[in-house]
Amino acid sequence: MNNISNQNLTLKGKKVLLRVDLNVPIKNGAITETSRIEKIIPTIKLLIEKEAKIIILSHIGRPKGKIVKGMTLEPISKKLSSLLNKEILFNKNTINEDTLLEVNKIENGSIMMLENIRFNEGEELNDAEFSKKISELGDIYVNDAFSVSHRSHASVEGITKHIPSYFGLQITEEINALKKITSKIKKPITLIIGGSKISTKIKIINNLIKKFNNIIIVGGMANTMLHHTGSNIGKSVCEKDCGSLIKEILENSNKYNCKLICPEDVVVSKNMESNGENKNLKEIDEDDMILDIGTNTISSIKKVIDSSNTVLWNGPAGYFENPNFQNGTKQILEIISQRTKNNKIFSVAGGGETVAAINKFNKLNSFTFVSTAGGAFLEYLEGKNLPGISALD
Ligand code: 3PG
Repeated sequence: MNNISNQNLTLKGKKVLLRVDLNVPIKNGAITETSRIEKIIPTIKLLIEKEAKIIILSHIGRPKGKIVKGMTLEPISKKLSSLLNKEILFNKNTINEDTLLEVNKIENGSIMMLENIRFNEGEELNDAEFSKKISELGDIYVNDAFSVSHRSHASVEGITKHIPSYFGLQITEEINALKKITSKIKKPITLIIGGSKISTKIKIINNLIKKFNNIIIVGGMANTMLHHTGSNIGKSVCEKDCGSLIKEILENSNKYNCKLICPEDVVVSKNMESNGENKNLKEIDEDDMILDIGTNTISSIKKVIDSSNTVLWNGPAGYFENPNFQNGTKQILEIISQRTKNNKIFSVAGGGETVAAINKFNKLNSFTFVSTAGGAFLEYLEGKNLPGISALD
């Protein structure tokens, strides 16, 4: 692995384009969880020590090539600056003719953060010209964003074709830990999958069925399963457009003998801020919104975890940010943490929302390993080559 910790790598005065993942949860303009910011600090400190000129590239959200005010990296730049206790110059513009002039002003050991790279149309398209353009801003490229390495984007993959490219410290740690875990993984394996990024993850379930013994589906993902298998889900969030995929998932679960567990009862409310009510699926009204799993479902999940040797978890069970709907997520955490503590299971969790929940309930030390990555973690488990990593290997 070409790593920046290599003693022979001289970076003094070199412009280092550092890709990190600062896609952290923000509510009303305030950052609610900082793990992803904290994790990149060792890499930045090493680059400062090596007297590099650091240019940070990152994204937040999915602005789809447009400038979206609420998706600026500015508050994150300020947070990183306070954590490092060091000034960070924030470049508010999208990449343009002046960007090179501006990055050329950076001094050795200083940091500039560029605005959300996904505000540029070429980023997600992995546009060849855009990749070349951003590569020209630096002398070398460093990927320290494992959690976005499953994306073939310009600042993750395209750029590596143009300048010498290296792994950062955080990505190296994650890859090594996951390699170790996946080589030792013991059946029965249970995957708990939830959260709100339904559209991308639903496809992954279909592939993971072949590898795991049980898949427990919770959160927004479960609403989609319930809707397509004939339950009324009221006005809950759901992916309406994937009936045939759900059919395939159900067929494959039979074919590969993977048990799919969906909620049998849920906590509903008329809106996100009211109290919750535990209901069986048949009792759900048209104006109900599913915001957590119910108590019977939690008992069923406990039984499955108790009979597993490995538990992998991505995505909370409900809207855990509100105490009225945190019970499912909190209970799952409790069950996993007890089993891990008693050496009964090997447990790995991953994902921005999942890490936020783990931190909220102080369970960071209750897992065998916690990855910052969600989608990338799942694709890694699928055995897929992640473009951002293959590009550097
Ligand atoms: C994540 O939060 O998993 C990464 O930042 C990737 O985000 P994406 O799913 O929007 O590509």
